[in-house]
Amino acid sequence: MELNNSAFIKACYGRNDGTIPIWIMRQAGRYLPEYLEVRKQVSFTELCHSPDLITEVVRQPIARFGLDAAILFSDILTMLDPMGMKFDFPDGGPRIAEPISTPDDVDRLHDFDIGDKLSFVLEGIRKIKQTLPETPLIGFVGSPFTLSCYLIEGKGSKNFDKAKKFLHQYPDAAQKLSDLLSDVIARYLTAQIEAGADAVQVFGSWDGILSHDDFVRWSAAPINRIFDRLQSLKVPRILFVNNVSPYLDIINDMNCEVVGVDYRANLATVIKALDGKSVQGNLDPSVLFGTPQQVVSSAKKILDSVPNHNRLIFNLGHGIQPKTPIESVTALVEAVHAYRG
Ligand code: CP3
Repeated sequence: MELNNSAFIKACYGRNDGTIPIWIMRQAGRYLPEYLEVRKQVSFTELCHSPDLITEVVRQPIARFGLDAAILFSDILTMLDPMGMKFDFPDGGPRIAEPISTPDDVDRLHDFDIGDKLSFVLEGIRKIKQTLPETPLIGFVGSPFTLSCYLIEGKGSKNFDKAKKFLHQYPDAAQKLSDLLSDVIARYLTAQIEAGADAVQVFGSWDGILSHDDFVRWSAAPINRIFDRLQSLKVPRILFVNNVSPYLDIINDMNCEVVGVDYRANLATVIKALDGKSVQGNLDPSVLFGTPQQVVSSAKKILDSVPNHNRLIFNLGHGIQPKTPIESVTALVEAVHAYRG
């Protein structure tokens, strides 16, 4: 199926002249009653391992809202298990069984055969493409630094201090970890694209806690090497950094087509700082807890502020929250699709 003429892919390359595309970060998940039904039957980990169930939960938000792109259902941590790091989600959040705390611990991680050990993800992608042939599918990974955060901290954290300190206490071990993760990420994204992903997104969910200098070394440089390795595959590459504003000068020179913009930023200001890249964002997810009228007016404010709609993909400025009212999402999607700039 030729998806190059879809609004989403056209917007990634800055050549959309029709309806503005919208998808929603974390669009399959706990705010959706039909997702919660599936989760009554299976654990999150079981769900991530079943190509049939992956396909079902990816389809749910597309069927309900008519979104312009689907995103693979998996987790950024999934690739860590075959690298030798066991984890679980005991009370919703991730928990690494034996986190990294010394340089020697980095040697516990190892390379693996993606086609063999992550076959359930690739099979899921093939099934999604059969089920939703007309919807572009986004594959994804976590950035090397964001994955390091979970590996070192062992769980979610407010500011991932241990992970930041590790970079400075043990720069050689941190580099080794970053290089190993980057190599697996590049091969994993390649496998996702070969299985049918039409675009890829790197989630730098915690990269935005780094100083400008550290961002260059530990976020931008490794991610750019990953993007370079995907160049010949000719699919749009999306970089999402939560708290992107301090790093726009660096990101402007990166080898990606689309920059995800978090909800803190003024989207028009970000667009001015970027030159020749598409943007994806950036409505605050908490706005969806207001009335549908408030949602529509906040979305319109963003849309009106954007000078060039050819390279805009509407999205939230971070993941949608549990308990988000469904009617807010419906109102948002309708407003973006009805918008004429
Ligand atoms: O539609 C989708 O986007 C679903 C696919 C998806 C999941 N995780 C499923 C999931 C994606 C793209 C992710 C990425 C992810 N995972 C990120 C980056 C995105 C971001 O929010 O910045 C991060 C940091 C993780 C790590 C992770 N996994 C956390 C922190 C948690 C717990 C809290 C949370 O955010 O939901 C998870 C579990 C997780 N991953 C759930 C889902 C649907 C909840 C599991 C459940 O109870 O059903």
